[in-house]
Amino acid sequence: EKDGYSSFMLKEINEQPLAVEQTLMGRLDQHGNLMLDELRIDESILRSVDKIVVVACGTAAYAGQVAKYAIEHWCRIPTEVELAHEFRYRDPIVNEKTLVVAFSQSGETMDTLMAVRHAREQGAKVVSICNTNGSTIPRESDAVIYTHAGPEIAVASTKAFLSQIAAAYLLGLYLAQLRGTKFPDEVREVLRELQEIPAKIQTVLDAGGEVTDLARRMSDAESVLFLGRHVGYPVALEGALKLKEIAYIHAEGFAAGELKHGPIALVEEGQPVFVIVPSPRGRDSLHAKVVSNIQEVRARGAITIVIAEEGDEAVTPYANEVIRVPQAPVLLAPLLTTVPLQLFACQLADSKGYDVDQPRNLAKSVTVE
Ligand code: F6R
Repeated sequence: EKDGYSSFMLKEINEQPLAVEQTLMGRLDQHGNLMLDELRIDESILRSVDKIVVVACGTAAYAGQVAKYAIEHWCRIPTEVELAHEFRYRDPIVNEKTLVVAFSQSGETMDTLMAVRHAREQGAKVVSICNTNGSTIPRESDAVIYTHAGPEIAVASTKAFLSQIAAAYLLGLYLAQLRGTKFPDEVREVLRELQEIPAKIQTVLDAGGEVTDLARRMSDAESVLFLGRHVGYPVALEGALKLKEIAYIHAEGFAAGELKHGPIALVEEGQPVFVIVPSPRGRDSLHAKVVSNIQEVRARGAITIVIAEEGDEAVTPYANEVIRVPQAPVLLAPLLTTVPLQLFACQLADSKGYDVDQPRNLAKSVTVE
């Protein structure tokens, strides 16, 4: 049932082109317009929404953080992302004009379910993004957008994460279509580019041998840092979480801009640092800033492992290793840059002889608070 893979996790990482394709399937017509029939919330309500609050835990919350960048940009709706277990205990400001989006692969996470209930009691509408048909969170939501990733068996979430991002993008693009957007051309282009993403994920997977070698060489690492900026920031957090969860290595993700505000003090000779580099075609010179972060940590002895677009040669002088991903619109990059980090954690844990599918102390669905 593992189809010849050494673990379900590795199998599920390799299923991501299909998982994303299935999540997009049937939701775009032949003219590239988005249909989201399952979003059974009155259009007038969706038009009047003045705030979105994402509630989720763990990896799902990182998918929510990625979504925030996209939704705020395309729709200009203020979007907060909150850990579900924090949300309900702090008297959050939620009302009839709030759209709460609950991300949950299992649909059974108790913390997220309680946040959904709390939001609905305050009059908010709730949309869930879920991978499990008929589970509790979708049943208690006003509407559900299913991610069609197929069952996820490994405890560490991989294909569900990419599918959650894809589904959240569909929601954001739909709201942009419905409410109008300052960037109609970009919205159209992203819809077109989304359809190219499954093939691009496959390209990243096809080059996975390099990541496997790297993971084997680095299996003695005691601490690994991850830096990213913009949508690369939640990707950095996700890369660190995967490594903690299954390889039991101390790992931390940072917003690259924070480096000089503290974390750079951690960097000493031999410290491995992954850097997720934004596209050089993006806005606001973020690319140049992240390249100088690579330079800064390298100058202090870090071993830099850089994830960068094809053709981005600016990173090579400061990179000990470069992992390439195909070019894509800035907001879609997490669907590609996450993949090498998942593979890295999986292969490193495997080379240490750990059970990657059943990491210690963790359960696939957390049905207690
Ligand atoms: C990480 C992981 C967890 C889950 C979190 C939420 O690999 O799997 O962090 O993402 O427990 O689970 P769901 O999405 O089922 O609500």
